[in-house]
Amino acid sequence: MAGKHKIAIFASGTGSNFEAIAKAAIGGRIDAEVALLVSDRPSARVCEVAKELGIETFAFCAKDYDSKQEYEAAIVERCQMAEVELICLAGYMRLVGETLLSAYEGKIINIHPSLLPAFKGKDAIKQAFNYGVKVFGVTIHYVDMSLDGGQIIAQQAFNYNGYDINELETMFHAVEHTLYINTIREILK
Ligand code: GRF
Repeated sequence: MAGKHKIAIFASGTGSNFEAIAKAAIGGRIDAEVALLVSDRPSARVCEVAKELGIETFAFCAKDYDSKQEYEAAIVERCQMAEVELICLAGYMRLVGETLLSAYEGKIINIHPSLLPAFKGKDAIKQAFNYGVKVFGVTIHYVDMSLDGGQIIAQQAFNYNGYDINELETMFHAVEHTLYINTIREILK
């Protein structure tokens, strides 16, 4: 593993992006090692996936800490111990705070399932679907204090004219996985 860039992925849910990125790293399709999974939901499927892939995990419950500053300090410590260079948020359902942002300034990226600045926040796929848009898309951006508001790195649009939200979500995931892997590859160059 010597010489590979070490990245951390933060996720709260299913972890399909985590799995795709981790497998790309294991398969040598990106010059990186997923050195750490950080999850604020110890029972999330993503933690199971990390275990199966043998990836170190820091799973925490925010309520066990007195403040955001305190749990973020614990996250920073774990990231530094794992020599993490880049943090990739993939369905991490918390706003990143000052403690984490200042420790990893310009080194935290996020994937969001819309063509930002449209459809920020939760359930972006449903928001766009219910709005009736015909061109959907995925954005990867740097993270700052705002909600889904940091500088855009990459976007990928696609058309969908159907009526099945499950089919649409499947399309989203395929686009997300490819875009995230390609973007991480570019950033690490
Ligand atoms: C993705 O749609 C991502 O864009 C959003 O959260 C979702 C995570 O999905 N930020 P998964 O857990 O990676 O399957």
